[in-house]
Amino acid sequence: MAVLDIHDLKKTYRTPTGERQTIVEIARFSMDAKAQVALEGRSGSGKTTFLNLIAGILKGDQGKILIEGTDIQSLSESSRDLFRAQRIGYVHQVFNLLQGYTALENVELGMMFGTGLDKSYAVELLNRVGLEDRIHYYPRQLSVGQQQRVAVARAMANHPRVVLADEPTGNLDPHHSHEALALIRGICKEQDAALLLVSHDHEVLQEFENRQSLAEINLTEQKVVGS
Ligand SMILES: Nc1ncnc2c1ncn2[C@@H]1O[C@H](COP(=O)(O)OP(=O)(O)OP(=O)(O)O)[C@@H](O)[C@H]1O
Ligand SMILES: [Mg+2]
Repeated sequence: MAVLDIHDLKKTYRTPTGERQTIVEIARFSMDAKAQVALEGRSGSGKTTFLNLIAGILKGDQGKILIEGTDIQSLSESSRDLFRAQRIGYVHQVFNLLQGYTALENVELGMMFGTGLDKSYAVELLNRVGLEDRIHYYPRQLSVGQQQRVAVARAMANHPRVVLADEPTGNLDPHHSHEALALIRGICKEQDAALLLVSHDHEVLQEFENRQSLAEINLTEQKVVGS
């Protein structure tokens, strides 16, 4: 069964001069449970917008985004926040860690919004990403790669069905990038979560058997490419 099924999705933004600009226009996109898909797209092509639509952070102008059969866009704001917390893990392009909280507290807070606090599992996740000796460190006391791993642990905190990863290795050198990717993919596999990763980095994309180009699925992009 498809864990993610998108139909006729369209998202426009208003330009500074007041016109409507279509950024995302996707007729159909779906992912099976446990699938791992890398979506390629140049800077500004709408990758973050697309993930934010799936996460219900943004609302489309039209279309359906079914996650395990529920259209996330049809939910009220509070139900949507809860639905997102419980079903979706999101590793943001900028990690969005809460600066006033330690690594452990960041993971625990993710749980409190979602399926509930499970302290030992939070510690286990941080062990799993190799931060057992850093759990009480604040983000500013962590390297970029370590913060990235906290973000991965937090994304997995509520046993999500879908994990969205937005250029998760954008700030890492090739060695750490490969390691971080292996970690995200390994944890998703262990937990039977589907993974949708977006990137413009060819080395990252090469690691995925299942690669798609945003230009191929996004009708707006096709027009831009063809014009
Ligand atoms: N709130 C907004 N209002 C108007 N235009 C916006 C808004 N947010 C994004 N855009 C435009 O939408 C386009 C897609 O932005 P998005 O952040 O999704 O790109 P991206 O593919 O993630 O790029 P990058 O690889 O640089 O992160 C950009 O051209 C941007 O200018
Ligand atoms: Mg982006």
